[in-house]
This record gives sequence, C-alpha cells and structure tokens, in this order.
Amino acid sequence: MTVERVGIVGAGQMGAGIAEVCARAHVDVLVYEQTRELTAAGRNRILRSLDRGVSSGKITERERENAACRLRFTFDLADFADRQLVVEAVLEDEKIKTDIFTELDAVVTDPGAVLASNTSSIPITTLGSATTSPNRIVGLHFFNPVPVLPLVELVTTDATSETVADRAEQFAGDVLGKQVVRSADRSGFVVNALLVPYLLSAIRMVESGFATKEDVDKATVLGLAHPMGPLALADLIGLDTVKAIADSMYTEFAEPLFAPPPLLLQMVGAGQVGKKTGIGFYRYE
Ligand code: CAA
Repeated sequence: MTVERVGIVGAGQMGAGIAEVCARAHVDVLVYEQTRELTAAGRNRILRSLDRGVSSGKITERERENAACRLRFTFDLADFADRQLVVEAVLEDEKIKTDIFTELDAVVTDPGAVLASNTSSIPITTLGSATTSPNRIVGLHFFNPVPVLPLVELVTTDATSETVADRAEQFAGDVLGKQVVRSADRSGFVVNALLVPYLLSAIRMVESGFATKEDVDKATVLGLAHPMGPLALADLIGLDTVKAIADSMYTEFAEPLFAPPPLLLQMVGAGQVGKKTGIGFYRYE
C-alpha cells in the first residue's frame, strides 16, 4: 500500500527538509512543532527552500504552490492518528526521542504504519524498546540539504518487520525518489561512521595548529574534490549535532577517534554551533 499521509516531528533543519521533499512528492504532510515561533520558523525555512528550488530551476512556481498547500502544522501529536508513516526529526537527545516514540506508538493506529527516526546515531533498537510495537520502528536517515542530497539510509533492527522495512524503502525510493542503502543498527550507520572521525580529525588539526581552517577546507575541496571542506561541513550540519553524534558513537564503541575534541566542546558551550546560529568555524550572514 502506497504511503499518502506522512507526519514529520520537528521542523528544524532536517525536519523542514524532509517535510519539503515529501510535499514536493505529492504526499499529504502534517508537521508537528512545539510552539508558534518554531512552527513559523519551520514554515519559513520550507518556503525559502521552495523559492530556492524555483530560482534554481528545479521546480516550477506551480509546483512550489502545490507543495506549500500540502503542508499543514500542528502542536498536538494526537493529530498523527491517521498517518501511515512518521519521521521523527528532533534534537539528537535520546530521552526526547524515546518519549516521542512512546507517544507515537500510542497515537498512530495503523499496525503496519512506519515509525521512523532521522537520528544520526541513537540506536533504533533503543527507540523501538520505548514502544509496544518495535516491529514498526526503523531509521530513515536523510542528508542535509535534504532536497539536494539523494541518499537515505534505511536502518532496521532485529525486531523490524520485513513488511515495514519494505514499505519504508518503497516510500524513500519510489515516492521521494531517493537512493536507499540499508544499514545495521550500529551507531553512526554507514555514512556517519565514516564522516564523523574525519570531521573530528579536521577539528583536531585546527586545534593543534597543524593547519588553518581555511587551508584544511581548501585542501579537501581542491585535493579530494569534496563539495565543501570538513569545517564548513561541520558548520552546515551544526556543531551541536556533530558533538551529539560523536558522543553516541563514543558511548557505543569507546574508540578515541569518536571522542569530541575540546575545541568542539568549547564552541558548542559558547553557542557557536555553525550556520544555524550565524557563527561556527566561519561567520554567516
Ligand atoms: N531545492 C532544490 N535544489 C536545490 C535547493 C533547493 N532548496 N538548494 C540548492 N539546490 C540545488 C541547486 O540548484 C544546485 O543544483 P545544480 O548543481 O544542478 O545547479 C545544487 O543544489 C547546489 O546548490 P548551490 O549551487 O546553491 O550550492 P553549492 O554548489 O555551493 O552546493 C551544497 C551547496 C549542496 C551544500 C554542497 O556544498 C554540498 O553538497 N555539500 C556537502 C553537503 C553534505 O555533505 N551533506 C551531508 C552532511 S551529513 C548529514 O546531513 C547527516 C548527518 O547525520 C550529520
């Protein structure tokens, strides 16, 4: 059965991006946020990105209008009762996420519904164990900027039913047009298990005076043909998110390469978390 009604929990950077790609794929989207201010910020984020899609020729004016019409917002998770697939995309905080999954489990009535998390590193098994139906829980991990990057990681656990996994894969692949890779439930999944040690190494290089941030970024852009350097990328992801992922990975693997370096901790402590706050390794307008 094709998924036609989706719920997104959280309208931050990732939640807004996921909501946008769903709306652009002709799906009815209901977005949960906690406050009027966060809802307004999320809506603006989506509308700005849709405008960018139009100005870069990716979508027409009409497609933007239609996508905007498919988006509705709510302050009450109880409104998710009729959703066939929900993607949770709130802060990387295990307690907040498990509470949301407990509530979603009680609210979403379809026993074959997909309850997905966009977590980068919190075990899907942990989220599943906060519910009475761990067979419905998967990870659906998108990449930022969501409208641009074609990958989704599908993370299944020992408890995930094959029907639910197939439904999630069909949705991400056939409905959203993303490329799907499957990963076991290991902190960081495939991409962050590779990416995070690289980002932390770049931060350590700057911290130790090995090279300047500009030169580290320039080296990877020009020498490895990466679209952006690791420090600019850490700013884009959000240094708070990078730290949270590193913490989860360090907790799971106890490998020094996942330990967040002091410079990262200091910047997060000072609120310099990257593009979303206007300052991280670089400054943003
Ligand atoms: N809707 C549709 N298309 C859009 C768009 C939008 N809102 N915004 C941008 N685009 C398109 C542009 O039209 C452009 O397309 P063409 O190349 O076909 O012209 C393309 O996206 C690139 O956009 P820009 O030219 O405006 O910007 P850029 O060339 O400077 O690229 C970037 C910016 C896309 C961010 C690029 O630098 C990039 O891909 N960087 C790497 C990002 C990355 O690695 N993300 C993953 C982070 S890890 C993560 O997210 C997961 C996690 O758990 C931490």
